[in-house]
Amino acid sequence: MIDPYSRRLAGAALSALLLSAGLPRVAEAATAIQISAERRLSFNDGWRFFKGEAQGAERPDFQDSQWAPTPLPHDWAIEGPFDQQLNPHTGALPIFGTGWYRKSFTLPATAKGRYFSIEFDGAMSNARVWLNGQELGGRPYGYIGFAFDLTPHLHFGAEENVLAVRLTPEDRSSRWYPGAGIYRNVWLDITGPVHVGHWGTYVTTSFETSGPEVSDDKATVAVKTELRNRTSQEARMILQTSVLDPSGKVVSRNGDAANIPAGGTQVVSSSLTVTRPQRWDMDHPYLYSLVSEVMDANKKVVDRYVTPFGIRTIAFDKAKGFLLNGRVVKIQGVCDHHDLGALGAAVNRRATERQLQILKGAGVNAIRTSHNPPSPELLEYCDRLGLVVMDESFDMWRRPKVPNGYSKYFDEWSERDVRDMVHRDRNHPSIIMYSIGNEIPEQGSPDGGAMAKRLTDFFHQEDPTRPTTSAFNNPDGAIKNGLAANVDLVGVNYRPWQYAKIQKDHPDWIVFGAETASCVSSRGVYHLPIEKYEKHPSLQLTSYDVIAPPWAYCPDVEFSYQDKLPNVLGEFVWTGFDYIGEPTPYFGDRGANATDWPSRSSYFGFVDLAGFPKDRYYLYQSVWTKKPMVHVLPHWNWQGREGQTIPVMAYTNSEEVELFLNGKSLGRKKRFGEPVEIPVGPNASQDRKFVSKYRLEWQVPYQPGSLKAVAYQGGKQVAVDEVRTAGAPARVKLTPDRAAIQADGDDLSFVTVRIEDKDGNLCPMSDSLVKFNVSGAGSIRAVDNGNAATVEPFHADHRKAFSGLALLIVSSQKGQAGKIHVTATSEGLTAGTTEITTRR
Ligand code: GAL
Repeated sequence: MIDPYSRRLAGAALSALLLSAGLPRVAEAATAIQISAERRLSFNDGWRFFKGEAQGAERPDFQDSQWAPTPLPHDWAIEGPFDQQLNPHTGALPIFGTGWYRKSFTLPATAKGRYFSIEFDGAMSNARVWLNGQELGGRPYGYIGFAFDLTPHLHFGAEENVLAVRLTPEDRSSRWYPGAGIYRNVWLDITGPVHVGHWGTYVTTSFETSGPEVSDDKATVAVKTELRNRTSQEARMILQTSVLDPSGKVVSRNGDAANIPAGGTQVVSSSLTVTRPQRWDMDHPYLYSLVSEVMDANKKVVDRYVTPFGIRTIAFDKAKGFLLNGRVVKIQGVCDHHDLGALGAAVNRRATERQLQILKGAGVNAIRTSHNPPSPELLEYCDRLGLVVMDESFDMWRRPKVPNGYSKYFDEWSERDVRDMVHRDRNHPSIIMYSIGNEIPEQGSPDGGAMAKRLTDFFHQEDPTRPTTSAFNNPDGAIKNGLAANVDLVGVNYRPWQYAKIQKDHPDWIVFGAETASCVSSRGVYHLPIEKYEKHPSLQLTSYDVIAPPWAYCPDVEFSYQDKLPNVLGEFVWTGFDYIGEPTPYFGDRGANATDWPSRSSYFGFVDLAGFPKDRYYLYQSVWTKKPMVHVLPHWNWQGREGQTIPVMAYTNSEEVELFLNGKSLGRKKRFGEPVEIPVGPNASQDRKFVSKYRLEWQVPYQPGSLKAVAYQGGKQVAVDEVRTAGAPARVKLTPDRAAIQADGDDLSFVTVRIEDKDGNLCPMSDSLVKFNVSGAGSIRAVDNGNAATVEPFHADHRKAFSGLALLIVSSQKGQAGKIHVTATSEGLTAGTTEITTRR
């Protein structure tokens, strides 16, 4: 099996191999680029970085030998330190200032006559780029991909080329942690004079109205290919377009003649038929590759461009909701920001995949890329894992939410940013809708409707197969000023009680929860008695899953509206993972409110920043999945409360749950049969109480030992969960998520660090300090524990446990196959060890 994404990267792998084979380098500091048959090379290595202003650093003769060698992707802000004087909304990390990157490289003399461009998947932010002292251009928006033609300014042979990139991200430019630096991948694109353009293919298999059709017997694959001719003569070429299945077999092929004008472009439309197509679906994320080959008169292939795609249909129906391949699917989505926890914003393939796999475990089937275009890798893994995507463009338009946000650039750049976003993203089968913006302040202003129309038109012009949407926290305003009428799907934030009214007033509109819940909690932390409070002196928030800021509510409230209104498309929970920044409700400004320090990351996730599920994860799992499960909370270490009543909750998707304390039954309860009253905010209910049928509750007089929940279906036991009173911490246990990883310097193993008593029970209150030693074919990449209120660095060889757990992220070394040995020690405890194999 060759998957289409690795097929697309084949060129990069080949060239990396050539370089590491020790070919002579022309100049000491410069990377010698080898030209292979493939057009796309990774351009991440060989960069140097300097944090601060460096006068004249764009000039080729500038001395950068003292700058730090820095492989990309790189996020300078995650290195910290956390600082109370910095903005907690952006994680109290140094996300602003000036940063310079330089890379020297040579090209073989034989490469003259070829065409080169550099592609940045994203740089945070206000990028300006020079080659050999010539400014190529700039790009303010940190989340957008951009490219520059290098060809006119390149040297070939022994003479070095120097690329210089200057970034100037600003303070107060974001409402969450954006990261800082060239935090996404960089590519070198190499072509002959006639080639497929940048993001030059557009593959569709389903039009909403007319166009390609998909049935069990056949699918029509419609392709538009932009060909570019950089010569001064018309180019008479043949475009051969092939569809390959994952085994590499050609399942359809087409040839079109193309006459591309001198110095111009031509779009070639082709139509291919795939018989008995394999549909891309959530549980069958089948990917084809479209291979576009440009051939000259002698049938010689002069350019080859690979586009992974899927065959599937999407539809949105006001009565049925969302249909994927004709089947109704309720959206069980999450909103997520782009950071990868302890790795910061720096893109990493495995960390991206792991986040999505963990989310899928809760039954998540959709991702909203809040509130910006995501990394290409996020979309790649959504394609691979069968997750659908709401691809979002902006958090603000012309009116600012923060003083230095995108509003500064909206007028000049929004059209270009939208068109580029769609060109980059439109071949991903995972994308089902585009968002023109989140909680846009123009919901309340007279120009909102016209501005929405302008953006929706750009999206439709570039891709008529997907609807647009926007997330409204002021739906009344957006309805009044025409903003809501100028998107195809109406996204509502935190107002499920308005769904039915909007549907009634606008019977043709399709509605969904674009942002829901915003419940907050800290993994493994429980405060008694259960009561609703906004802040707790511990800077943590109880995991009884009842706390939410005033505009928000616990998950149960949304479930009840979604159940009542099956034609509402579904919901996107705020959020799947915790993220750095926005530590609601502990966001005293800039250290002014010393009582909130050091809260610096969010509590919204149903998974913590380290990737450990909180109790809420299982509440979603109980509503979103079918495989029998039960989850019981809280922990069972209440020393000093013997005999006192402890509320115990169970989340299940099965018919009944029986609770046992030290083997004695405390009775069975039926799911949906025994509603539980929970405290909610004023928006969700006037009397601040909500009766939830989604949880079961027992009042249990505390006695140490075992608390066990047994789930039954049809009278048969189908799932069990147990918490046990733990004794004193006795040992450190290490469990890697993968015991074998690639020796490519990028792959990671995420090692769970668990503090256990002598019998192997989790010590749920342990904050033992753990020290790590990693030797052999790998190294420590980062550490974390999911605590939102700590200033321990992510880059360290030690970490305290939080509620008994910590995380060690281990990285392989490029080209070094072998074993990584990991030891974790903690004073007074038996050390933990594990071994990870790395393979080439
Ligand atoms: C929403 C906003 C999100 C996040 C969330 C927290 O209003 O769109 O970005 O701030 O609130 O509850």
